[in-house]
Amino acid sequence: MANTLNVYALPTLVAPEDLIEGVVVVIDVLRASTTIIHALQAGANEVIPCLEIDDAWAVAEQYPRDEVVLGGERNGLPIERFDLGNSPIDYTPFRVGGKTVVFTTTNGTRAIQRAHLAERVLIGAFANASAIVRELLEQTNVHLLCAGTDGQMSDDDILMAGMLVERITRQSGLLYELNVQALTAKETWLHRFALPRALGAEPLEPELLAKELRKSAGGKNLVAIGLDGDIFTAAQIDQFDCVPELDPEKTRIRLV
Ligand code: MLT
Repeated sequence: MANTLNVYALPTLVAPEDLIEGVVVVIDVLRASTTIIHALQAGANEVIPCLEIDDAWAVAEQYPRDEVVLGGERNGLPIERFDLGNSPIDYTPFRVGGKTVVFTTTNGTRAIQRAHLAERVLIGAFANASAIVRELLEQTNVHLLCAGTDGQMSDDDILMAGMLVERITRQSGLLYELNVQALTAKETWLHRFALPRALGAEPLEPELLAKELRKSAGGKNLVAIGLDGDIFTAAQIDQFDCVPELDPEKTRIRLV
């Protein structure tokens, strides 16, 4: 059977059953994936993704209050009475170190839920791009699942997926069949930057990437509410060498 490398520009473009035998990378660059990576890298024990605000409160109540941090957003803004919003840099060792982060966002946590039947579910963003590529090089059935923004495709996720497709197809010893969305994402990535930068042969400065991310649906929303700084944070490629993975039975995300 051929090796497959698929991109889904939105969670609704794939049925959960079609992900059963694969490794899924959930991509929500602005900002859920980036924030989960920052939280775990800052020493959070685990991140528990929840679909609804009420679910998050119910999970948090199972922990002593000083061992849990409630985080996330609605309409991009912090949720009333939660400890943190969805700005990655707020997830510092002081705020989340040694704690459980209970997390709910508009699109990112829904995309994670969509992947719950997969063999493995990893969380990817530019912040951990090379670590994700390394983890995928030997995998034969890979799905890159973009969260999108309120049901619209968002270029922050497509660019990240395209970068992964470019890196994997060039660096893996395996030959992959790509779906149309994977080919399109790769072309989008390659056409947005000068070739040495797109191929990783020259550094891609965060401001150059941030400029593209600002034009995406998710980016425009963040600019409109004054959170442009989060876009610049999300544009730091390979800031961390880590791979968060969901334990689907316990619905917890931890570092591999
Ligand atoms: C999402 O899950 O859609 C994002 O968290 C949106 C945002 O960062 O505001």
